[in-house]
Amino acid sequence: MKPGIERVISVNMNLLRDCYYIVDQTRPGDAMALYATLRDDVEKRGHIMFVFNGAVFPLGFIKGQILRRPDFKNDAQSLIQAKADMLYVDKKYQNNGIGQSLLRAYEDYCAQNGVGQIVLYSAPTQQALRFYAKNGYECVNNNYLMRRNLNLHGR
Ligand SMILES: CC(C)(COP(=O)(O)OP(=O)(O)OC[C@H]1O[C@@H](n2cnc3c(N)ncnc32)[C@H](O)[C@@H]1OP(=O)(O)O)[C@@H](O)C(=O)NCCC(=O)NCCS
Repeated sequence: MKPGIERVISVNMNLLRDCYYIVDQTRPGDAMALYATLRDDVEKRGHIMFVFNGAVFPLGFIKGQILRRPDFKNDAQSLIQAKADMLYVDKKYQNNGIGQSLLRAYEDYCAQNGVGQIVLYSAPTQQALRFYAKNGYECVNNNYLMRRNLNLHGR
């Protein structure tokens, strides 16, 4: 396994099991949903996924999708949005910059594909809210919806 960030275009059983493990020991309530959706999201529904590989197994991943129209009101209709719906880093490897580099890889991919804004629902934890705020995301409302405008000509 080559350490570092890798774009994922198919989800085999090993990767599914590794992602399940990462989610299960960070936010256990979210883990079962992975088996139902992750593979089809990436392989059939065109979702974008990046994984951060350690020397032996993945240490974190991000997944999201480009939305062709804004998914909440009061935004310019011309703005293409992307949603980030999963970002998890193995608990043992958190606070080493892995979450930030996964988010940046996703943002760069989106910007290169014409996306002007990323939206996401943060987990309702201080850890997640602070992480996104530090990475340039602002709260849109009280339901943990956050957004960040991308500079299409580079960050
Ligand atoms: C939120 C989450 C994705 C952040 O991932 P992470 O890899 O720990 O994040 P980073 O390491 O990039 O940033 C966290 C902190 O480490 C610091 N950091 C960044 N690069 C660093 C480096 N090279 N060395 C040491 N610290 C670093 C950051 O400044 C940040 O500091 P802060 O605690 O003062 O905010 C992770 O904690 C997680 O998976 N949480 C559980 C699931 C979750 O809530 N997901 C998000 C909502 S869906």
